[in-house]
Amino acid sequence: MKILVLGATGRTGHLFTQKALDEGHVVTAYVRNPDKARILLGTHPNLTITPGTLDDAEQLAAASSGQDVMVSILGQKASIREFLHSTFLQERLPLIMQTVTGAGVKHCILLSAYGVGDTVRTASLPMRLVCKVIMRGIFTDKVKADALVAEYQPYISRAHPGRLTDKPGKGGVKVFDMASVERTPGIPTIAREDVADALLTIAKNPQNAGTDFLVTTGDVALHSPQK
Ligand SMILES: NC(=O)c1ccc[n+]([C@@H]2O[C@H](COP(=O)([O-])OP(=O)(O)OC[C@H]3O[C@@H](n4cnc5c(N)ncnc54)[C@H](OP(=O)(O)O)[C@@H]3O)[C@@H](O)[C@H]2O)c1
Repeated sequence: MKILVLGATGRTGHLFTQKALDEGHVVTAYVRNPDKARILLGTHPNLTITPGTLDDAEQLAAASSGQDVMVSILGQKASIREFLHSTFLQERLPLIMQTVTGAGVKHCILLSAYGVGDTVRTASLPMRLVCKVIMRGIFTDKVKADALVAEYQPYISRAHPGRLTDKPGKGGVKVFDMASVERTPGIPTIAREDVADALLTIAKNPQNAGTDFLVTTGDVALHSPQK
């Protein structure tokens, strides 16, 4: 599989990129800081590091051409002001989706978060409070950005993990169609390494396009199957 990665220099992004390369995939890391990417990712025969910014549609289109899938693992280093009122994704996602799908990539995986949008309905009370109070600015940005790219929904898979840690992965990460999830307990927490595994699992099946996924190593109550 040929994978275009946005955010390959991030804490989750570099783990994903390494895993994709380890599995034999061909990866293009589209990064604003190629020196950082070279230090983090090293060299690999299947890795291309392409310098470019997210507002450079021409460069991003060239990087997108011929890719099977795009994985966006972008995140912002938010100041307190931005944390309270972020527009990071609203400003960037529409051009990214327009450019990447316009170049022919029909499966785009976006790393979102558990508790964003409708996913909060399945969360516990403590998790809802975290989403509605502490994470409100960042999550509102994600919801508004998702609305701006609604026309590309059939091409988008969103991954919704809980709170991320840099601990070693537990392995055995589970990926559930959000529509099948009834409830999760407590405040779900997951290692970035496990999220990287889940993103690769989602990326490998083009039929996942159009679906939102809960990504978890914890407990989940699922809706009972319809009789
Ligand atoms: N933290 C949590 O508990 C949590 C929970 C659920 C979901 N998430 C979501 O997970 C995602 C990734 O999180 P993370 O902690 O792995 O992120 P991270 O380590 O902060 O990495 C962010 C990545 O985005 C890139 N980036 C940021 N601004 C950019 C810009 N203007 N242009 C180009 N690239 C830019 C960074 O590039 P540089 O290296 O060049 O800066 C880096 O590669 C985020 O969307 C976050 O909301 C987080």
